[in-house]
Amino acid sequence: MSMHCLLHSVTFTTLLMAIATAITTVRATVTASSSPIKGSYWFDQETFPVSAINTTYLRHIFYAFLLPSNTTYTLEITASNATSLLKFTTTLRSKYPPVKTLVSIGGAASDAALFARIAGNAELTGRPPLLLTAAVYFASDFILAAGPAPSYPVIAMNKTLDFINVMSYDLHGAWNNDTGAPAALFDPKGNVNVVYGLRSWVRAGICPKKVVMGLPLYGKKWTLLDPNVTEIGAAAIGIKPESGGDVPYFQIEVFNKESDATVVYDPDTVSAYSYAGTSWVGYDDPMTVTVKIGFAQALGLRGYFFWVAGFDRDWKIIEQGIYCVAN
Ligand SMILES: *[C@@H]1O[C@H](CO)[C@@H](O)[C@H](O)[C@H]1NC(C)=O
Ligand SMILES: *[C@@H]1O[C@H](CO)[C@@H](O)[C@H](O)[C@H]1NC(C)=O
Ligand SMILES: *[C@@H]1O[C@H](CO)[C@@H](O)[C@H](O)[C@H]1NC(C)=O
Ligand SMILES: *[C@@H]1O[C@H](CO)[C@@H](O)[C@H](O)[C@H]1NC(C)=O
Ligand SMILES: *[C@@H]1O[C@H](CO)[C@@H](O)[C@H](O)[C@H]1NC(C)=O
Ligand SMILES: *[C@@H]1O[C@H](CO)[C@@H](O)[C@H](O)[C@H]1NC(C)=O
Repeated sequence: MSMHCLLHSVTFTTLLMAIATAITTVRATVTASSSPIKGSYWFDQETFPVSAINTTYLRHIFYAFLLPSNTTYTLEITASNATSLLKFTTTLRSKYPPVKTLVSIGGAASDAALFARIAGNAELTGRPPLLLTAAVYFASDFILAAGPAPSYPVIAMNKTLDFINVMSYDLHGAWNNDTGAPAALFDPKGNVNVVYGLRSWVRAGICPKKVVMGLPLYGKKWTLLDPNVTEIGAAAIGIKPESGGDVPYFQIEVFNKESDATVVYDPDTVSAYSYAGTSWVGYDDPMTVTVKIGFAQALGLRGYFFWVAGFDRDWKIIEQGIYCVAN
């Protein structure tokens, strides 16, 4: 689990008024405190500086990541981190439309026990309240890896957190010996799908208006055992992320074009996949994301977030969100 808190909240009256106008036609009770989340994580990358973020498409940007010291519990901010953070806030502060910026504490390399110690320490600062959110596993009641189901303090989470970012992706990958949809919306064969995961959080006691759906801007790659057997579930060897198994969307587009790949939209899972020779990649595209956002709206969820800005360089996927005003 990682935590985020609001760094800076710019005035966004004009935008809110525009949004409120759009929303009230659908749901009269939506207020500023439960305005839709259209978010994306961003990490400092030469090929996609913070200045490249077009805030037309997004309302919340999560800075990934800062880590706390395990002795002082304060954030460990190196000189280069400080420069990067300052650039992040000043650049986004000058953007129009305005966005909220959040610093995300954690990441895959973080220490869960340390979080527990920090979160268990209720010290009030007297400062204005910040947004407090957490990124959580795709489901509340089971994990893909072997081991006991996690036990989340769901009632406290529902009470304390403004919303949760459900990491509803990485459902299939290198650990599977057959191809799969990494972020399948549905799966007729079982629980390993986005809808199951999102519903499990609501069933556990998180109010739908605090649930935010995660959308991956990257796919996962496999090597097919037989180039003539190409459907989802085909026998294959998964490629580990460190060997290039996680492919940013813009690179998938290059692969599709340069290798003249066959591109398939799979309505059963609401996912896309493409293949050429023995290379097979499963991913989300503008079409699947549009369907997923529609589904999140139908479930009454708070919104969605992407991992990670820069993987969809031409905004082909992220821009789908602007057509969904009422989520
Ligand atoms: C951001 O996207 C909008 C909508 O496509 C476009 O009109 C605008 O020019 C873009 N802004 C920048 C700075 O690229
Ligand atoms: C703190 O982190 C350091 C470096 O990762 C580690 O060696 C040390 O054991 C940790 N201390 C505690 C109290 O967890
Ligand atoms: C921030 O600091 C961490 C080490 O704590 C380092 O790994 C990371 O690259 C730094 N990021 C930036 C943008 O300076
Ligand atoms: C994948 O194949 C390897 C080698 O045959 C085997 O050891 C492993 O158990 C298989 N994994 C799954 C999830 O079937
Ligand atoms: C979750 O929080 C919402 C709003 O804060 C509240 O209305 C709802 O009753 C809570 N749900 C549970 C199961 O406690
Ligand atoms: C795949 O199908 C083609 C056309 O039917 C055939 O020529 C080829 O030998 C098959 N390849 C394999 C590896 O079975």
